[in-house]
Amino acid sequence: MIYLNGSFMPRDEARVSVMDRGFLFGDGVYEVIPVYSRRPFRLAEHLRRLQHSLDGIRLRNPHSEAQWGELIARIIAAAPEEDQSIYLQVTRGADSKRDHAFPLRVEPTVFIMSSPLFTPPARQREEGIATISSADYRWLRCDLKTTSLLANCLLRQMAIDAGCVETILFRDGFLTEGAASNIFVVNDGVLLAPPKNHLMLPGITYDVVLELATLHGLPCQVRDIPEAEVRHADELWLTSSTREVQPITLLDGKPIGDGRPGPLFARMYGWYQEFKATVMRAG
Ligand code: PDD
Repeated sequence: MIYLNGSFMPRDEARVSVMDRGFLFGDGVYEVIPVYSRRPFRLAEHLRRLQHSLDGIRLRNPHSEAQWGELIARIIAAAPEEDQSIYLQVTRGADSKRDHAFPLRVEPTVFIMSSPLFTPPARQREEGIATISSADYRWLRCDLKTTSLLANCLLRQMAIDAGCVETILFRDGFLTEGAASNIFVVNDGVLLAPPKNHLMLPGITYDVVLELATLHGLPCQVRDIPEAEVRHADELWLTSSTREVQPITLLDGKPIGDGRPGPLFARMYGWYQEFKATVMRAG
């Protein structure tokens, strides 16, 4: 069952107009929220980021936080899996003509669906994942989670074509993020993260990792990270809502550190699982 514009229905019955601006212009925003044991993880934070994205594209939020919570709860309840990934998107809606300028008096299109949560295979945690790099040629509002993802799709496909999992992006000689993930660097026992700004998505998992590092006394620095520091890192990690924390052991065919997942990754992975279990128990 999915939610579309006020109704719950089977996904195969859902219909959206070809005039929808999400279809014509990629004019919309979205969120991906992991659900563990039928409980959405960091829901308030995801809804706060949704508001930031809506504000950034000048689209009114069609629902209050409580309404979003109720709609999402109904979608979770109707899905068969305990662990899910909730996808929601809001577009600027369907106008009667195609015009770049915003339409007047058009209702947004609101869509919510659940999918089984894709958990990365254990082998990727044990051996690490391979990545490639690319220039970050996206626009200058990467802090907005918009459905205009063509650049991200091309960049992710580059990795797949090279037999890798993710593409790490550099802009003007500095690390930004991955095609669909945030990237962390470990050097000399210090966890480094690029600062949240218009050049990267403020990841919800990124925040969790920095909070856990602080909580457990792992030294962290949030600052610009030159490309050379990434290439010569002791450890590299990838984070996202669906992948949680993963070790990167190969970048452009060269090993990171000794080519094995590092000791700080193992600790962070443990902290992350422990934290998840605690919040899920607390409800
Ligand atoms: N993507 N950066 C980009 C460009 C992303 O697309 C994502 C997540 C992240 C990580 O953010 P978070 O920790 O909040 O998931 C960073 C989602 C999973 C997606 O597009 O499917």
